[in-house]
Amino acid sequence: MNSGALSSAAYVTYLQCPKCNEIHESSTIQTVCISCGSPLLVMYDLESAQSELKRSLLVSRLPDMWRYRELLPVQDLGNVVSLGETMTPVVHCRTVGAGLGMDHLFVKDEGRLPTASFKARGLAMAVTMANEFGIRRVTIPTAGNAGGALAAYGARAGMEVFVFCPEDAPEINANECGMVGAAVYLVNGLIDDCGRIVREGKDLLGWFDMSTLREPYRIEGKKTMGLETAEQFSWDLPDAIFYPTGGGTGLIGMWKAFNELETLGWIGSKRPRLISVQSEGCAPIVRAFEEGAETARPWEHASTVAAGIRVPHCIGDFLILRAIRETNGTAIAVPDDEILLAQRELAEKEGIIAAPEGAATLAALKKALDRKDVDKDERVLLFNTGSGLKYPMNTTLSRIDKDKPVDYAAMLRR
Ligand SMILES: Cc1ncc(COP(=O)(O)O)c(C=O)c1O
Ligand SMILES: [Zn+2]
Repeated sequence: MNSGALSSAAYVTYLQCPKCNEIHESSTIQTVCISCGSPLLVMYDLESAQSELKRSLLVSRLPDMWRYRELLPVQDLGNVVSLGETMTPVVHCRTVGAGLGMDHLFVKDEGRLPTASFKARGLAMAVTMANEFGIRRVTIPTAGNAGGALAAYGARAGMEVFVFCPEDAPEINANECGMVGAAVYLVNGLIDDCGRIVREGKDLLGWFDMSTLREPYRIEGKKTMGLETAEQFSWDLPDAIFYPTGGGTGLIGMWKAFNELETLGWIGSKRPRLISVQSEGCAPIVRAFEEGAETARPWEHASTVAAGIRVPHCIGDFLILRAIRETNGTAIAVPDDEILLAQRELAEKEGIIAAPEGAATLAALKKALDRKDVDKDERVLLFNTGSGLKYPMNTTLSRIDKDKPVDYAAMLRR
């Protein structure tokens, strides 16, 4: 174990359905609500924890997600499956910020995590719980990064891993799964087609389904983004957080984190406005938000360069919309060409090679400033959810023939 002395998840009480309130036991593995099929949330007795858990507890702990162990569901920290889930840096973007008239623009760079995306947090937690419950065969439908993370943590835990991804998912994602020994299947469809294949195979293969929000523990891992952000901002959270939204575990996880921190007395009642970012080519949450709906209709013909947010339909839609509305946030869709321009801008001006999903947050910030959803003086945090190094890159490269005179003057003209 990498985070000091062992302690159990003493504060976990039960799992609860946020739709029909049905209670589920925490001592056995759970999936979705047995009554209504909704995702389940892990609940903690934070009232009791309040007198025992103080922020000073964190001071001597390692800078990784397990430093928040009392707010995580694992019972025996000896079961933790870890690849070193480091705290990710909050990078002050002075140049991009100045271009927008902002002094307080930050990017939280989740590309630094194992397998180069924020998916590591959720899958480290989910594989840890599967390990605790003795599960040996796991599966996932994935746009790419979640599969990469499950495959790596599954390998580390000695599990059998089956990954299903759309055939046009980034090639590196399929290969990273194969590289760590997962069985990878490319499907000529979208992520919901992959999801159907996973569910239909369950009876024959007996695998545990790690799909977004169909198991309750990934969200607990994602929650650490919110806990970490609060700590990194000295418990005074930014005014707005922009988050690329696919299945929504990231956004819901942070919302849950902030609520738990308030109950613990570690932060006050002020919340960052949670701003959900999608691509115009697949924006079910934005449409539902604008329509004032409580759930989102499936998006037809979903298409975007940002594969991770190409999720036409998700079972956590009502929770995403609740998180946005409760925090006075909003939802913004941006076109792919603006995502790619924002990606280039972050790279050239700040040195951050962001995933297109992460870059979409900068494109959305520009729209938010125009719409006056965000004020230039506010402290704004953009989530870069993955490393751009995992995606194809097109740049202009020049060649030199070592046997000919080098044209140095041409270099100045570049
Ligand atoms: C890089 C990246 N960003 C964002 C997302 C969307 O994440 P969530 O399911 O938390 O909405 C994904 C999902 O695949 C992703 O890979
Ligand atoms: Zn229910």
